[in-house]
Amino acid sequence: MAEVIIVKDPQQAAVLYATTVANALKNDPNLVLGLATGSTPVQAYRELAKIIQAENIDVSQVQGFALDEYAGLSEDHPESYHNVIQRTVTQVLNLTPELVHVPNGSMESIQTAGKDYDEAIECAGGIDIQILGIGTDGHIGFNEPGSSLSSGTRIKTLTQQTREDNARFFNSIDEVPTHCITQGIGTIMKARHVFLLAFGENKADAVVQTV
Ligand code: PGA
Repeated sequence: MAEVIIVKDPQQAAVLYATTVANALKNDPNLVLGLATGSTPVQAYRELAKIIQAENIDVSQVQGFALDEYAGLSEDHPESYHNVIQRTVTQVLNLTPELVHVPNGSMESIQTAGKDYDEAIECAGGIDIQILGIGTDGHIGFNEPGSSLSSGTRIKTLTQQTREDNARFFNSIDEVPTHCITQGIGTIMKARHVFLLAFGENKADAVVQTV
């Protein structure tokens, strides 16, 4: 069942996500979280971190699975999603780094990396709570509109719009990778609970189309 919840501001959405996850963590210290990069979820992670600290919730066994990664960008690059997830999630929530997974964007193993990633999610028991943003063109993860609803994790080409949107994190658009590896819509929809957050007028069209 999908529910559209209109909130006053991003802070209210952050609290909604954070309290849901914190309550789930109290019942299940082995919770599996689906993680997203981008500006949208940052406040939600911070809010969750506040509750975890205030209530001294044990997160040492929590597993995390990021949505996506650039293909062919070194994991050491500051804007690789390995690094972004480390900075914005693993450190903020104080998760165990070895239990936080990001798809492998290395070109050497890209043909099998998607299947390996989906198997790792399955081995972990599936994702309990997935957080998502949405691109201005309606992409989810890096699944552009038109992606198969049953798709698994796989390599995709980034659209010009998405590369332009993400150019702000690089010195120029030429540095933005052209390909990525992303959880598929099928992978994402296997999560038991999905929070898709969207803020601001520039997301309105994408939200309307999605709903
Ligand atoms: P944003 O990106 O959170 O930075 O707006 C969302 C997305 O591209 O999925």
